[in-house]
Amino acid sequence: MNYADLFRLDGRRAVVLGAGSGIGRESARALGAHGATVVCADRDRASATETAALAGQGAEGYEIDLLDTAAVERAAGELGEPDIVVLTAATNVRKRLLDYTRAEFDRVVALNLGATFDAVRFFGAGMVRRGRGSIVAFSSIRGSTVEPGQSAYAATKAGVVQLVRTAAAEFGPAGVRVNAVAPGVVETPLTAQIKNDPDWYRAYAEKSALGRWASPGEVAGAVVYLASDAAAFVTGAVLAVDGGWTAIDGRYTPPDS
Ligand SMILES: NC(=O)c1ccc[n+]([C@@H]2O[C@H](COP(=O)([O-])OP(=O)(O)OC[C@H]3O[C@@H](n4cnc5c(N)ncnc54)[C@H](O)[C@@H]3O)[C@@H](O)[C@H]2O)c1
Repeated sequence: MNYADLFRLDGRRAVVLGAGSGIGRESARALGAHGATVVCADRDRASATETAALAGQGAEGYEIDLLDTAAVERAAGELGEPDIVVLTAATNVRKRLLDYTRAEFDRVVALNLGATFDAVRFFGAGMVRRGRGSIVAFSSIRGSTVEPGQSAYAATKAGVVQLVRTAAAEFGPAGVRVNAVAPGVVETPLTAQIKNDPDWYRAYAEKSALGRWASPGEVAGAVVYLASDAAAFVTGAVLAVDGGWTAIDGRYTPPDS
């Protein structure tokens, strides 16, 4: 084993679904920097193309609506034989349960859980046939801890964990690995609502052990790791990249004894 090449992805083909923004964009850039040829897929064609320009040699933009099951199936057939599939697209409606509508719930579930279900099935099928591949899905600290207002989002992020574990169990014998990343609070358009509220923003920074928010680039390393041979024996795992958020409950700091 040449450890200097442990994280290299030369000759691998990656597809990032949700590559137009935030963690998806930085993941595409990081995969490309490690030698992968990256398809940058997003609903927003212009931002997908922008990411492709940043994601290394051979990177291309691809327009896809992940809410369209047939489009995900088509993409899995059209996009060559990817070794790596990363799915970051998600949405949140932050509202109390008593104010939530069924339509809002369905919208959050359809993207966060439904698109993961489709991507894992359609891209996973080819990987299982070829006998290799790594799928990286996105959970969240909300897959294990909640606060008021996170109902549907948290349910989908816990659901992603169980989907990933089941896919790992079913695809493992074929040599295909399936894992999830669970970020803490990361400055992206998804969390712009929080950034715009100084008290909320500060409270979240103070909650983590590191005492701050992450930049999206700080999550990309976990994606490269899970995609690469460095994680050759890692499957069915949920990798926390949360600055210690889920390690501490934050209720009280006892005085020095
Ligand atoms: N930002 C955070 O603090 C945070 C924290 C924990 C978990 N996460 C998770 O990390 C992942 C990435 O989050 P982010 O903050 O980078 O999000 P983001 O909103 O910055 O990016 C999401 C991307 O998905 C695309 N997208 C949305 N709907 C789509 C659709 N129907 N079809 C195709 N593309 C679509 C958007 O155009 C956008 O480019 C998500 O799964 C999110 O739940 C984020």
